[in-house]
Amino acid sequence: MRKTLHLEKTIYGQNDLTVPEAPQIALAGRSNVGKSSLLNRLAGRKQLAKTSSTPGKTQSINLYRVDPSGYYLVDLPGYGYARRSKEERARWAKLIERYLTGNERLQGVAVLIDCRLPPQQSDLDMVGWLRAEGVPVLGVLTKADKCTQRDRQAQKARWAALLGGQAPVLFSSVSGMGFEELWRLFDQAVGL
Ligand code: GTP
Ligand code: MG
Repeated sequence: MRKTLHLEKTIYGQNDLTVPEAPQIALAGRSNVGKSSLLNRLAGRKQLAKTSSTPGKTQSINLYRVDPSGYYLVDLPGYGYARRSKEERARWAKLIERYLTGNERLQGVAVLIDCRLPPQQSDLDMVGWLRAEGVPVLGVLTKADKCTQRDRQAQKARWAALLGGQAPVLFSSVSGMGFEELWRLFDQAVGL
């Protein structure tokens, strides 16, 4: 059955940090890597999540309910965006950390990586931190339409090594590459 996504809750700060009693998969990655675009592609709706060519677009934690599956995909603000004040970055990091650690219904975090770039320190830190927290990591290489076949394979192998042998999904919000594979991965992560 075709899945639909609905924005059900937006978390702006510690005060609204309550989460649904349902399985959740969060999308993490550096600013501009394509988290919100990926959600729109999965939803088949161009404007569901706001996207921008300027990094730092998503500034809140947005929970999208997946129907009829009954779990949530959670769009997070990107990390590694240098043009914000130090205080602001620290506040976000804290909010995201609290969401990711204090959440028993979190079944996995999809870490999105631009397929054109080698592993960045911030991505390695994120993967390392999630592993230490015992949260399953799902690797996704974004903007696959911008990569040559050769780059795709090289990046896939590189990330598979860093992800403990698990090959990342190659995804493109432009072409739809990886659509079915990613849904399967998410369904599997929540036990469907
Ligand atoms: P933040 O909310 O700032 O953390 O960014 P984000 O990770 O949500 O990125 P967003 O989805 O807003 O996309 C950033 C830019 O990349 C936009 O200009 C998108 O159009 C572009 N983009 C996203 N996915 C793809 C893709 O698969 N292929 C191409 N060519 N461009 C993409
Ligand atoms: Mg975004």
